[in-house]
Amino acid sequence: MKKEAIIDKKWGTADPVHDPRMLAHFQTRSTDVLITTAAKAGTTWMQQILHQLRSGGDAEFSSIDDVVPWLELPRVGKHWSDVLADYENIPNPRIFKTHCTYEQTPGVDKNDTNTPRIILTSRDPRDCCISFYHHKRDMTDEAKAHMGFTDLDNFDKFLDEWLRFEGWYRNVRSWWPHRNNDNVLWLRYEDLKKDLSAGIEQILNFLGWHITDEQRHSVIALCSFQWMKENALRFTRTGPAGETIFKPGGFIRKGQVGDGKATLTAEQEKRILDKARERLTPDCLAFFGIDS
Ligand code: A3P
Repeated sequence: MKKEAIIDKKWGTADPVHDPRMLAHFQTRSTDVLITTAAKAGTTWMQQILHQLRSGGDAEFSSIDDVVPWLELPRVGKHWSDVLADYENIPNPRIFKTHCTYEQTPGVDKNDTNTPRIILTSRDPRDCCISFYHHKRDMTDEAKAHMGFTDLDNFDKFLDEWLRFEGWYRNVRSWWPHRNNDNVLWLRYEDLKKDLSAGIEQILNFLGWHITDEQRHSVIALCSFQWMKENALRFTRTGPAGETIFKPGGFIRKGQVGDGKATLTAEQEKRILDKARERLTPDCLAFFGIDS
């Protein structure tokens, strides 16, 4: 069998949802848009917003991952190079979801050509943490067993792991210095909740895309929490055989600001915020409303 070339460590370590080879070999286009959110910060919502803006309103797709694929996700039974070949056939503008740090994101280094546009949505870490807890709990029993997720009734144990994994902190810390780059638009989940219409205008201006007033109207309706909840099966992830991995509503759950603060004990909240104080700069903490 042909030996695969060793790839740079910067593309990250392989795991069931991250194939560094796909990142190392992905050919970016300047028309590409990459969503680079931390997990549970509104990634699926942004997939839907961007797909709807690109299409001017499309209620016909069956799964959001078909129209906005998860870039670095290994597909069971399919060689990574075949997945990349499929990506080549997607017409412009292509949109991808990733959970990559800045360093792992293809095409963003200053020496790269065909730099993609980046849209990142950040969200309060307490809300992301609670949302992730439910994300794991909402998996089917088979999927939990396959992923080795046990003891999910014990929130403190989950929190230990969430803090140890550092996904939220890593994403925010790595993108923060690049937030003002010309090709980066940094939005907040909380602002989109307050005024989706304003967020949509920001996105259209940033991407230089245009839609009619009628299309804007239908985009806003299709991106509402209610529409997405009613169509939750289009926003769930399936396994290799097309089987459901999540119980209905796993990705479109509550959609509230402040769920973390309302749910966590003072001690649990302190652990989440203290880690932010360790990992983030004072201006970044201030952006999240966390005192340093
Ligand atoms: P909750 O679990 O707090 O409800 P991700 O897509 O990154 O996994 O994020 C999932 C979170 O985004 C979930 O948060 C989900 O409910 C929320 N979400 C998805 N669509 C939304 C929408 N249209 N409006 C508000 N929140 C939405």
